[in-house]
Amino acid sequence: MAEKILVIDDDAMNLKMAEFILKRDYEVVCVSSGREALDYLTQSVPDMILLDLHMPEMNGLEVLEKIQGMEKVCHVPVVFLTADSERETEIKIFQAGAMDYIQKPFLAEVVRHRIGRLLELYHLQQSLQQEVEKKTRQLKESSERMQRLSVQVMLSLASAIDAKDAYTKGHSMRVAQYSCELAKRMGKTGREIEDIYYIGLLHDIGKIGIPNAIINKPGKLTEEEYAVIQSHPAIGAEILDNISELPDISIGARWHHERYDGTGYPDRLKGAAIPETARIIGAADAYDAMSSRRSYRDVLPQQAVRAEIEKGKGTQFDPVIAEHLLAMIDEDKEYSLREK
Ligand SMILES: [Fe+2]
Repeated sequence: MAEKILVIDDDAMNLKMAEFILKRDYEVVCVSSGREALDYLTQSVPDMILLDLHMPEMNGLEVLEKIQGMEKVCHVPVVFLTADSERETEIKIFQAGAMDYIQKPFLAEVVRHRIGRLLELYHLQQSLQQEVEKKTRQLKESSERMQRLSVQVMLSLASAIDAKDAYTKGHSMRVAQYSCELAKRMGKTGREIEDIYYIGLLHDIGKIGIPNAIINKPGKLTEEEYAVIQSHPAIGAEILDNISELPDISIGARWHHERYDGTGYPDRLKGAAIPETARIIGAADAYDAMSSRRSYRDVLPQQAVRAEIEKGKGTQFDPVIAEHLLAMIDEDKEYSLREK
């Protein structure tokens, strides 16, 4: 189908001339005022607009401004028709956003070639833009898919970890949730909060390497068995070391059982030597241990949990993080942050 060109000129002779030159190759629609052109453009989208600069009522620049405000046609290239040969006119035309201009009186060959080239250029631009949009969309879709997949894999891993222990159902997810809550209270931003969620989810992954018989032993653990349990942070760190995209994920696993006073395990790190991420996870982990059921007891009362956190401030816990945890507890009037 022939491309459609809208010609707007108040001079009937010029319209006839333009139609005569272009009708061989294009479908030409001629109108004699800006008003008529705008009416036409509400119903039809041409491939190009040839616009006379000097017209009564609404001049070409005013018409162009209106066209640029019309969503369906604002992208259509506009070429001015002008008898002016002044430099200033030329500048004004381009500044207004026109694609080009054609000097009047028309030279048939020049008009044909100009229009042909400009349309070719315009269509090339259009298809390039469509291609870029398509690729961007595809990239976004696949990146969103990867993101969803990563979250699902991590959640599945977290369930696998928790399934090892009959008494830690939902532990990883709760630690992730509490860690995020603490991170928010500490003023962390979007990405940091997102990262800490993943770190929380997988902090106990090393438990996968501990025999079920030890993890689920009903009675008291022997010294050797306790030592095996205590190896889970190092095992976890080793498992997660490969996730270079999120180095803190292995840090969280390795040091979440360190204590602020340096009496924790596996490395007896002290104070600020324990990475902040691990201090957050450690506090969230301890909080969940108390606010969830164990084989030998029910969920501890909220005030008992609060007292333990208060007691551990500066010994087991980073005092600043402990304060945030206490504030979280105090605001949780219904004690909803616990195992249900
Ligand atoms: Fe742990």
